[in-house]
Amino acid sequence: MEPHTRAKHDLLSHYLKAWYPIIGRYSQRAVFIDAFAGPGVYEDGSPGSPIIALRTLLDHTAFTTLRGCTFNFLFIESDKKRFAHLDAEITKLGTLPANVQVMLRNSDFVAVADELALLIIDKKKGLAPTLAFLDPFGISGVPLNLITQLLASDKCELFITFMADHLNRFARTGQIDRHCEELFGTDAYRNVRGMPALIDLYEKQLHDVANFTYVREFEMLRTDGHPAYYLIHATRSKRGVEKMKDAMWKVDPGSGFSFSDRHAGQGSLFVGDHVDTGPLRTALVTNFAGKKANIERLEEFTLLETLYHPSSHLKRKTLALMEADGLITVLNPGPRRRRGDYPAGTEIRFLK
Ligand SMILES: C[S@@+](CC[C@H](N)C(=O)[O-])C[C@H]1O[C@@H](n2cnc3c(N)ncnc32)[C@H](O)[C@@H]1O
Repeated sequence: MEPHTRAKHDLLSHYLKAWYPIIGRYSQRAVFIDAFAGPGVYEDGSPGSPIIALRTLLDHTAFTTLRGCTFNFLFIESDKKRFAHLDAEITKLGTLPANVQVMLRNSDFVAVADELALLIIDKKKGLAPTLAFLDPFGISGVPLNLITQLLASDKCELFITFMADHLNRFARTGQIDRHCEELFGTDAYRNVRGMPALIDLYEKQLHDVANFTYVREFEMLRTDGHPAYYLIHATRSKRGVEKMKDAMWKVDPGSGFSFSDRHAGQGSLFVGDHVDTGPLRTALVTNFAGKKANIERLEEFTLLETLYHPSSHLKRKTLALMEADGLITVLNPGPRRRRGDYPAGTEIRFLK
């Protein structure tokens, strides 16, 4: 298993670790779809995404408190051999708790779409919050119109592998037009050049056509430093963005948006307290110079408009330094306020 596959699995498990209890505490049902499930366990014995998803729930410290929620897992794998392997690996887990239900389909993702829709929109049990993990090898088999229909409910989210490198090489050759049109849901990709523009177009389609409010990508770099693919998370929930950012910063403690095979296992020079928050300071100045804003607005801005995390990077690592440099002032300090404290309701003025 390549290092970036492990990083992909880490992102998935960190996110699920947060997602299960959030959903399980308010909903009677949660659905996890792994539509390109793979063999369950790799040749080197490492678990694949279906096993990771199940184990993350079963081993969760909060699992016993989530008995009121039924967790439906649907694993789809079109290859016969890989499917048989996956089936055997799931069987090895033994009898699962009554509120954990696994369905396996040896099929093509598109072919089981109707069944998936029924699982999410169960007339008797209502709409279920759903996370769909779509992890194809290439760019075919993940039509945007299917994603749009399937994940139309507010509580549905998408985590998808986007093979930007492959696309960049082939999109304008005419050889994969049908797949590209399905993937993007438009032929506008024909006028687009370069990987960043292809990702922008795909994210715009997820936003405008599939109606996801927040779309964010994580970059997987090959040993030569070139992007291999992107993992894109699309959600309508701010909390979802926050939890995915937590996961991204755990996998990439230096910058929160990429993982490089070249540097796998070497750690990073810019971790922990050494994260470079200069770009966050610049973004704050650019957006708020001469204005007033409360801390809640700045937290939301940091979460949604920057790569940074409001709880780890905003207060002590950015605002406190800006205050020391005289770039901001607190307008309503409490009597016992210490420099660097920005409790709820704090009003801040930015210098012009
Ligand atoms: C990248 S691998 C998945 C790896 C797996 N998600 C993991 O992380 O352990 C893609 C898998 O999708 C399967 N596949 C390819 N096309 C498919 C389709 N149209 N529907 C369902 N599965 C498909 C392949 O056989 C392969 O096992």
